[in-house]
Amino acid sequence: MTENKTTSRSLALAAIEAMKKSYSPYSSFTVGAALLTKDGKVYTGANIENASYTPTICAERNAIFTAVHAGEREFEAIAIVGGHKGEITGVTVPCGVCRQVMSEFCSPDFKVILVTSPEGDFEETTLGELLPYTFKL
Ligand code: THU
Repeated sequence: MTENKTTSRSLALAAIEAMKKSYSPYSSFTVGAALLTKDGKVYTGANIENASYTPTICAERNAIFTAVHAGEREFEAIAIVGGHKGEITGVTVPCGVCRQVMSEFCSPDFKVILVTSPEGDFEETTLGELLPYTFKL
């Protein structure tokens, strides 16, 4: 197994672990994310919902904002996993708002790892594929 594949799988497993911290009593859809910095640090996040619905934060933005607040600005990859009540039955792709937030800090070759199984199997895509024609000021 190449080193890249090993890194992607361990990031996938970190996202699965992060998903366990999801607070999602309204949708019962749990999401976890694990964000890898260019110098090898990992920041995780889970979705946290709210009775008023719109204040809900997605797992991806939770991880990204935590990392940025810790002083990080350079990112390599993010692993994302989700499922109804924690059951992983297929890929969970990042919502449009999270894609836009990724584009603030990440280049088009930023790797997006979509977890497909509880064992940490995954598919890979890039931010450039998920969000072409990015809005920038
Ligand atoms: N959710 C995420 O955490 N990330 C996404 O990219 C899509 C949606 C969360 C928000 C909400 O808590 C639940 O999934 C259902 O939309």
